[in-house]
Amino acid sequence: MTTTERDHGASPPIAAGRADIRARTLRQDRWWLPPLANALGLATFVIYATIRSFWGSAYYVPQYHYLSPFYSPCLSASCVPGSSHFGAVLPAFPPWIPLAIVSLPFLLGFRVTCYYYRKSYYRAFWASPPACAVAEPHSTYSGETRFPLVLQNAHRYFFYVAFLISVINTYDMVVAFQSDGPEGAQFGLGLGNIILVINVIGLWLYTASCHSCRHITGGRLKHFSRHPVRYRIWTAVSKLNTRHMLFAWFTIGTLILTDFYIMLVASGTIPDLRIVN
Ligand code: FES
Repeated sequence: MTTTERDHGASPPIAAGRADIRARTLRQDRWWLPPLANALGLATFVIYATIRSFWGSAYYVPQYHYLSPFYSPCLSASCVPGSSHFGAVLPAFPPWIPLAIVSLPFLLGFRVTCYYYRKSYYRAFWASPPACAVAEPHSTYSGETRFPLVLQNAHRYFFYVAFLISVINTYDMVVAFQSDGPEGAQFGLGLGNIILVINVIGLWLYTASCHSCRHITGGRLKHFSRHPVRYRIWTAVSKLNTRHMLFAWFTIGTLILTDFYIMLVASGTIPDLRIVN
């Protein structure tokens, strides 16, 4: 049957809309596995990050200047001496306010509104839909056009702040190459530095591969040929963008690893494995 025949009713009419299939899905594979794994992974991160953000101790190693990313930037007078790399410009906080209250809401907003995480948690927690070719349980669908989901469109603005926080994390990483020895400050290198470097590289890859970053670098251009620099940056960002999911999960792992390692060293549970000084 050709399109013309169908359009003009030359053949028996076909049903409008979807096929009348009563089963929720015809898939035979374990389609529920990815949303389940996503739910467990995201829940683990949210629980860990929440506990650690309110923990309020074991986030800084004075001798090696290791600062947990969950406490950066530490701007309160409540911060451990030395951990305020940009000065303690804010007053002391009560214990129920996280010391990184300045950055955490933006980082949370950046991740929550991320295009990849949206897909991930819509499927994992709202079953909307749970997987490809699996019907969702909801009878209506309003997309992201109404409150509160319309706020997802603020992602670009969270990106700007997250970019700035990645610069701050990079500064924290550089500062940590300085250790305090008997003769004063000196270059130092330990396992903590390696973990911090891996984490910062991951954070930059995740930030630079953001869909908003791709649009900021190459969007709204009519002629790439007239903007060769932006075209090159957009091309690089586009390549990274194809791995955005990978970087999203990688940084969840490195953030937990970095904070957990610093917590162990800062609390005296384990010593830092030193390579130089
Ligand atoms: Fe994931 Fe922007 S789309 S961080």
